[in-house]
Amino acid sequence: MTTNTGEAMQPLIAGNWKMHGLASRLGEIEAVSVSIRARPIYADVLICPPATLLARAVQAAAGSIAIGGQDCDCESTGAFTGDISAEMLKDTGACAVIVGHSERRQRHGETDAMVAAKVTAAWRAGLLAIVCIGESEAQRLAGKALTVCGDQIAGSLPAVMASSAVAIGYEPLWAIGSGSMPSPEEITQMHQHIRQCLVAHWGAAGKLVRILYGGSVKPSNAREILALPEVGGALVGGESLEAMDFETICRSVPPA
Ligand code: 13P
Repeated sequence: MTTNTGEAMQPLIAGNWKMHGLASRLGEIEAVSVSIRARPIYADVLICPPATLLARAVQAAAGSIAIGGQDCDCESTGAFTGDISAEMLKDTGACAVIVGHSERRQRHGETDAMVAAKVTAAWRAGLLAIVCIGESEAQRLAGKALTVCGDQIAGSLPAVMASSAVAIGYEPLWAIGSGSMPSPEEITQMHQHIRQCLVAHWGAAGKLVRILYGGSVKPSNAREILALPEVGGALVGGESLEAMDFETICRSVPPA
């Protein structure tokens, strides 16, 4: 996977399988991987399956697709039953981890401070952290979307760490799995705002951080979304589960 260290960085298309997928689904990863090897693609491709499949997913991906986790603990080791550290993800062959997804913020009470600690853990382990932010429908209707997301970025990024170890996933909560999504103008406005926040945090290095859009991305809308200013990729849920759909989304990235 390319890193945020130069101008040649490719868009990142990341599939988040969430709590879907038994071993029988590994063939989908293999199918995307075989196709990418046969015909070039103009994006970095990442699939984040459930933790139970990580090691086998790395094998199925055969080096053509990066594999990542969906969450990590902030500690590296210890008496924390059921938790998985960033180092353990790395040990499976994973190279990235999603942190602060809204489903974890909502169902597991993850705060910005907890997310920031997980981002630090990912960095310590050498994983790319995809830091998720996004406003609720009520917050958008109240005209607070930009402020909410700006505050989430400020709270979820550790003060000291390299910008090259981070991507941002902008996922409006009301667009996840709903078929609804912001207008192209709203996506552009938010991504430009996120860029300003990243530059405020990191200076010029903040310009290289990829900002992924997530929420109801599908084969029929991927091309338009990926062409918008400051959209550096996509975070795809439901449509990443089937190889054909996910590959179509990945192939919606035009040559540089
Ligand atoms: P959907 O693509 O299913 O809307 O999910 C988006 C998401 O939450 C990815 O992390």
